[in-house]
Parts: sequence; C-alpha cells; structure tokens
Amino acid sequence: PYPLYAELRETPVALQEDGSYVISAYRELTGILHDPHLSSDVRHLSRPMAAAEARTTPSFINLDPPEHDRLRRLAMRHFGPPHTPGLVTGMEPDLTAIVSGLIDHFAGKQQIDIVDDFAYPFPVTVICHLLGVPREDEPQFHVWVNAVIDSLDYDPKTDPKEKLDNGMQATTDLREYLGGLLEQRHGRPGGDLLTRLANDDGPDGRMTDDEIVSTANLLLIAGHETTVNLITNGMLTLLRHPRVLQRLRDEPDLIVPLVEELLRYEPPVHIIPWRAAYSDITVADTVIPKGSQIMLMLASGSRDPDRFHDPDRFDPDRQDNQHLGFGSGIHLCFGGPLARLETQIALTELVRRLDRPRLVADPPPYRPSPILRGPIHLHIEQSQ
Ligand code: HEM
Repeated sequence: PYPLYAELRETPVALQEDGSYVISAYRELTGILHDPHLSSDVRHLSRPMAAAEARTTPSFINLDPPEHDRLRRLAMRHFGPPHTPGLVTGMEPDLTAIVSGLIDHFAGKQQIDIVDDFAYPFPVTVICHLLGVPREDEPQFHVWVNAVIDSLDYDPKTDPKEKLDNGMQATTDLREYLGGLLEQRHGRPGGDLLTRLANDDGPDGRMTDDEIVSTANLLLIAGHETTVNLITNGMLTLLRHPRVLQRLRDEPDLIVPLVEELLRYEPPVHIIPWRAAYSDITVADTVIPKGSQIMLMLASGSRDPDRFHDPDRFDPDRQDNQHLGFGSGIHLCFGGPLARLETQIALTELVRRLDRPRLVADPPPYRPSPILRGPIHLHIEQSQ
C-alpha cells in the first residue's frame, strides 16, 4: 500500500532540504501538470542538472511549447489514435503474431522468466516494425537498445563503469544507425514511421534529420522499459489476484478496464523528477520560486484516497479511472494507445496460453530505480 506516499500526501507540496519541491496529492499534481509555467526543459533550473541533454538535439519530452508542440504534432500525424488514424491502428495482427511467437518458445519449459523471455524482447520488436528496421538488423538493434536501457539505472556505487560506457557507445551506434537508415528513406514512398517522417510535407513543415533521429530515439527510450514493466507488473498482479485472472479467462473484454486499473495500481512510472518552475508557481497556497526543481509523485496521486475510493484495492470494475499512469497535460504519454494495445494483447495471450501459472518467488526481485518500478525477473512455473 505504499505507506511512504500516504505520509508524503500529508504535505501535498513539500520543500526538500536541497531546495526542490515534491508534489504528491492528486489535485495538486493535475493542477501543476496543466500549469503553463511548469517547464520540462532542465535548462530552466537555477541549479543545473547533469548536462546529459546538451549532448544531442533534445527530444520533445524535454522541450516546452512552441517547439514541443511542433515536434509532437509532426510525430503524432503518423503515429495515430486517438488524434488521427495512423500506424498503431493497423498493428493489432502484427502485435498478436509477435506475442504468439514469443509464447511458442515457452513450450516444454517448466519455468519461464516473464521479463527475459517475453516482456523485454516484445516492445523492441514492435518498435523495429514501427520504425521500419529491416528484419536482418533486428538482433543488433536489440543489443543496442538493451545496452542503452541497462545504463539508464547506472549506479556508480555498485555498477561497473563498463555498464555506463556500453550504454554511451550503444547510444552513439544507435543514432548513427538510425541516421543511415533515414538517408535511404528520403524520396521513397513507404508506410513505416521513418519513411513517413522523412517525406512528410504537412502544414507544420518537416522535421530535420537530426530531429527525426531524436524522435526515434525518444520513442525507444520512453516506450521500452515502461511497457516491459506494465506487462510484468500486470502478470504479477494477476497472479496475486487469482479470481480476477479467472474472470479474464471467462470475459476477455475485461482486459480494457483491467489495463487502466493496472496503470493506476501498479504503474511503471512512479516519479517525474525533472520538471522546473519557469516562473513562480503557486500550488495549494505555496509559492514555488522560479528555477526550482519539481518532483511529481505520479504513483502517489493515483493512490490518493481523496480522488480514488479504496485506492489500495485492485479493482478492474472501477469507474471514472482518471489515473496518472501516463502523466497529464501537454506531455501526456504519446505512446499510450500503443502501450495499451501491447499490454492488452500480451496479458490476454499469456493468461490464455499458460497452464496453471504459479509465482516462484513473491515478491520478485525489483529494479533498483526509484523512478521506474517493476521486477527485474518474474519467474513463473507452469504445468507440463
Ligand atoms: C510521455 C508513461 C509507453 C512515448 C510519458 C509520460 C509518462 C509516460 C508518465 C509523461 C512524461 C512527462 O510528463 O514528462 C508511459 C507508460 C508506458 C509508456 C507507463 C507504458 C506502459 C510509451 C510508448 C511510447 C511512449 C510505447 C512510444 C512508442 C512517450 C513519449 C512521451 C511520453 C514520446 C513524451 C510526450 C511529450 O513530451 O509530449 N509516458 N509511457 N510511451 N511517452 Fe510514454
């Protein structure tokens, strides 16, 4: 039930010793997420953060309007619903085929790791198909993405420096690879995202090659571990709620509200740590001075009893479930429709095809990150 969040919510806007502010209650979180003075650009912090963003063209998750809106709109034109019919709309058969292929490999195995054997490879394969990465390059693409993602939770106290170096090298290799792929796509008709972005002449003009590579990179980084964690948290939650699992077998349509409830109850993104006050912001009678760092405790907001009845109960029948699992406001998750579809298909097929699955360890081991929450492995046994 996350007792720390309940404690934090007693002071919904709290000043920390280091001068940053922590926002933890639902009302204050939604309020500030819609405040035009809340900036996603770390250059507006009075105390600079590690200048990681300065290295490459920043992607729109770290930009404010009008740049954010221009790039997001350009990408959204092709990506799809809810705003326009696009690539995601037609992906269902492809996603089902990828999921089925992964589950076919479980045959004859008594023990499986839902993370390594399933949830980890799935979203990368999907992104490869979406971007139009040729099949023969997919294994190399997986290696790069894994190295980049692994290095994101690098901890200098416990991790070998090699982990960071591998991640930096893979970031460079990945950008170079995407740049090369993009060069071949100019002037060519085609349905994949890189080709569409390279040849788009919409009302907002066209993205530069550098912007396209940054956007592709953003989709990978923002869309990978988040989806891995939602699928894994979902399987764990279902195994802890066997009656819901059985209901899902009997009523497959339950999957839609069930995934929404997962995004509220066990969300992959717990904290957004990188917001800045562009000018003074007043929240719940507290003035947050210009330049302050603001940490948004999204998972705490989604468990706030002032907004959600019986918030520590996993209830797929919950009505009016406006959770903060995808954030809120202008940076609301861009990949929401894809992430929902991926998770709906993944959990439906796992539940349908696994024979009496049982958890090997509860709780499973977790990733060390305080920002993204999900098991590092989820071993389950199935009957033969
Ligand atoms: C933004 C969560 C999957 C692409 C966000 C934000 C959250 C989030 C909380 C808001 C960040 C902020 O306000 O700074 C999730 C979760 C996912 C998921 C829980 C999976 C279950 C995906 C996927 C993609 C994606 C699959 C793309 C393929 C993005 C992008 C943004 C974003 C591009 C930035 C939007 C903007 O700045 O306008 N996501 N995400 N996400 N997400 Fe996701």
